[in-house]
Amino acid sequence: MIEDRLLEAAAADSRLVTDAAQWVIQAGGKRFRPALTLLSAQFGPDPDSDDVITAALVVELTHVASLYHDDVMDDADKRRGALSAHQKWQNSVAILVGDFLFSRASSLVADLGPEAVRIQAATFARLVQGQIAETVGPGEGDDPLEHHLKVVADKTGSLIATSAHLGARMAGADEQVQQLLTEFGERIGTVFQLSDDIIDIISDTTGKTPGTDLREQIPTLPTLLVRRDARPEDARLLELMDSDLSSEESLAEAVALLRAHPAVDHARSEVTRRADEARALLDALPALPARDALAELCTTVVTRMS
Ligand code: IPE
Ligand code: IPE
Ligand code: MG
Ligand code: MG
Repeated sequence: MIEDRLLEAAAADSRLVTDAAQWVIQAGGKRFRPALTLLSAQFGPDPDSDDVITAALVVELTHVASLYHDDVMDDADKRRGALSAHQKWQNSVAILVGDFLFSRASSLVADLGPEAVRIQAATFARLVQGQIAETVGPGEGDDPLEHHLKVVADKTGSLIATSAHLGARMAGADEQVQQLLTEFGERIGTVFQLSDDIIDIISDTTGKTPGTDLREQIPTLPTLLVRRDARPEDARLLELMDSDLSSEESLAEAVALLRAHPAVDHARSEVTRRADEARALLDALPALPARDALAELCTTVVTRMS
């Protein structure tokens, strides 16, 4: 049902826009955000309300819109195992299709009332500011690691927090439960992005090109730790990280050195610690099957990077 509704929301006036807007939706994806919306709705008296489904559509459409933009920014060739939209069409089409999907999310969220519109608008403002902060990097005197953690919370934690928030809210959950689930979403969302960045380095099966962040010199937790804790034997890796990695050979060398570096294990432990903290928040929720499912999500985020 959600799947059909997503495609329907992406239908446009022209074949080209419809094809381009449905492209990334049809390519698949984990549907992590709508799943979190539906699970969070279980903590309210009205989990099956139409508004919960609408909220699930809104968060996935917002996410997909941001992916169109992100792949242009990151010059990523692949998304969800398919060619990225800017590669298949062109940058301007990908950017405008992202805007188009965002407009579809906006018209859906209007059905959920002005407060939901405000929540969605504040979320997108945070997401976009996180993306910009990542692009411009830390200012003079800023700690690069702290800057990165704020970027991750803003660009990814914000929408995942809202996925949980809107689910709980539209199901009529009380204010305290809404707040708790929002906090949980913020934390698990941050953990999710940090673990995803580790997986992008260690795995060849993500549907994205391994090392894309390295090539674009986008900092991630492992590379920030390599820099912070640099040892004499890291000279070659640091040199590669600061160089043009456009050739396949140089990228492969950098990925191999990073995969073998203790910073990856260090990053994994940090992510595990944060996932445990997120899981602990769930203790304050009623013991429903949905609570176990949320705890399971925390476990999966950790196990998928080992
Ligand atoms: C991709 O999000 C961007 C990140 C926050 C890492 P997902 O990993 O949820 O991507 P899909 O939706 O499954 O493709
Ligand atoms: C994606 O961030 C976050 C948003 C789309 C807001 P990344 O650039 O880290 O995600 P991937 O690796 O391309 O999925
Ligand atoms: Mg990207
Ligand atoms: Mg990016």
